[in-house]
Amino acid sequence: MNTKKIAGGINRREFLQSGAKIAASAMFLGLGTSRIFGAFNFSPLESPIKNIILNNGIKMPVLGFGTLYLNGAVGERCVADAISLGYRLIDTAKVYNNEEAVGAGIRLSGIKREELFVTSKLWVDDAGYENAKLAFETSLNKLGLDYLDLYLIHRPRGDVKGSWKAMEELYKEGKIRAIGVSNFEPEQVNDLIANSTVRPAVNQIETHAFFQQAKSLEFLGLNDVQMEAWSPFAQGRNELFTNETLAAIGKKHNKTNAQVSLRWHYQRGIVAIPRSSQKAHMAENLDIFDFELDEADMKTIASLDLNITQFPEWE
Ligand SMILES: NC(=O)c1ccc[n+]([C@@H]2O[C@H](COP(=O)([O-])OP(=O)(O)OC[C@H]3O[C@@H](n4cnc5c(N)ncnc54)[C@H](OP(=O)(O)O)[C@@H]3O)[C@@H](O)[C@H]2O)c1
Repeated sequence: MNTKKIAGGINRREFLQSGAKIAASAMFLGLGTSRIFGAFNFSPLESPIKNIILNNGIKMPVLGFGTLYLNGAVGERCVADAISLGYRLIDTAKVYNNEEAVGAGIRLSGIKREELFVTSKLWVDDAGYENAKLAFETSLNKLGLDYLDLYLIHRPRGDVKGSWKAMEELYKEGKIRAIGVSNFEPEQVNDLIANSTVRPAVNQIETHAFFQQAKSLEFLGLNDVQMEAWSPFAQGRNELFTNETLAAIGKKHNKTNAQVSLRWHYQRGIVAIPRSSQKAHMAENLDIFDFELDEADMKTIASLDLNITQFPEWE
């Protein structure tokens, strides 16, 4: 067993290995989250969201807040609301055109910078060594921050190796606490690992009940790269919020389809970043730590996998 347990942090290897094993066998092993997360003991004054430990030793919340389409004053208000409810991981990107609003929301919340985990992403137009350095500084300035917790290559396009070299330097200078990728296939992550000095800490990919990404879950788990789910609700496509299978499981646990979905990500060892513009939904999405999906629930949800993107327009 990995002995690098940190108070308030989940043992990352346990978290990942549980996810990888589940993906490999397509069944929940019955470890139970109380065992997986048994090392935890958190005070009610803290956020209800626990942390996992990334491969470079830093903590990352197991649940975060997505900000796609949350722009301007709405974005600012949503980010402040989310933080007030206990979200600590805020996910933005240059291409969302809302980094200023996210920064304003952070300041409005009054939270201390060090309590947050802020992610932004390098867009494809900025690929390459020089461009990536410039794009990072621009994102930082727009956010009004002096460092990022996580910076991701948004898509595997253009001069990935040049972008990564720039990010490695920024990481080593202490301007980014962890660097990673997004929308990378296992082979592309493998190639990056083989040709770099800093292993990516995270791969953020589309993951939800209809596109479960078992191959990536297994690969990333085995390679100590944290998997993060974008569009954890598939934006409600394919009727996720009224899906009868999820609803039946929810009824059993007195939870909604959204909560069942997020709990399922959590039990697979995946960090999810749901987005909402409504404070009631934000609170609902946080309320997933008081129940447990059993082996039968996990198997039933596994059967919903269509193994295909629900966002073909973004391919
Ligand atoms: N790396 C990438 O390429 C990439 C791509 C896409 C997204 N992302 C990131 O992932 C985040 C999440 O993905 P997403 O924004 O595409 O979609 P999502 O989180 O899957 O779904 C958002 C939708 O779900 C609704 N919703 C949220 N909570 C709900 C609840 N409890 N009950 C019913 N409806 C609920 C929201 O509506 P309301 O506002 O009405 O609550 C919104 O319409 C993004 O915001 C972004 O940060 C990254």
